[in-house]
Amino acid sequence: MSDAAFEVVQDLTPALGSELRVDREALLSGRVAADIRRLLDERLVLSFRAIGLSPEEQVRFASTLGPIGNQDRGGILQVSQNPDVNPDAEVADYQRASLTWHFDGFYGGIPDYATMLNARVLPETGGETHVANAVMAFADLPADEQEYLETLWVVHDVESAMRSVYPWPTHAQLQTWQKSGQRLFPLVWRTKSGRKSLLLGHSASHVRGMSLPAGRTLLCRLCEWVTQPRYVYTHSWQMGDLLLWDNAGSLHKASPYPETSRRLMDRTALLGDNGWEGRSSYFFTAEDDASV
Ligand SMILES: [Fe+2]
Repeated sequence: MSDAAFEVVQDLTPALGSELRVDREALLSGRVAADIRRLLDERLVLSFRAIGLSPEEQVRFASTLGPIGNQDRGGILQVSQNPDVNPDAEVADYQRASLTWHFDGFYGGIPDYATMLNARVLPETGGETHVANAVMAFADLPADEQEYLETLWVVHDVESAMRSVYPWPTHAQLQTWQKSGQRLFPLVWRTKSGRKSLLLGHSASHVRGMSLPAGRTLLCRLCEWVTQPRYVYTHSWQMGDLLLWDNAGSLHKASPYPETSRRLMDRTALLGDNGWEGRSSYFFTAEDDASV
């Protein structure tokens, strides 16, 4: 590292994750932002144990790394099933889907660059965060399979994500979910630097141009491949922990926890860019249906 204010305490697993010790002032000033971005690209998950940032400090730190989302909420989305914190039942429902593997930001049409979580209230049991290295998992596939997968496009939608929470939705729920339309993403996401990862998870409905069973079997197989234990880091939370992960290069999920626990995570989204050669995603229209 180029800055003495910045130290890697330990690597968390061989495949991904590093725990850092960072001078607080350096972190908030942006002086170590370039080092953090570089290490995030390399290790995908960065852990700042019990650093205890306030919401304002969290937003200030995140802003040193790039543009952030949820500006209308001050840069923080409160992730909680506590109705006092999160009275909007629809938002709480969407957050329940975080118990299955996914990436953040599909709804906006571009995967978020990174996600930052700050532990504010911990559950008595459960609630761990799991992150899987989708860059390494892709790199470990045979070259001919990589080449084939790079030709495929995947349709993502809210309905697919929400069926993990409600396997038998009501008509009204389906109508609500389908209002947000569908997004088309390349199966293999490539950043401007050329890094490739598998873009999968609970929002993935099917593969364009492939029969539903064949496409869904492929997506299932790849998701199992990415999330096998050797590619996964599991974070057991302590109060004040801050976890930052490379969202477009990984999949993540939370372990179940009691909904009465009042668990609260402050989440800041670091926005993504258009990726490689404009090969991002686009909003699906009715005319696209024929080609699905
Ligand atoms: Fe998430």
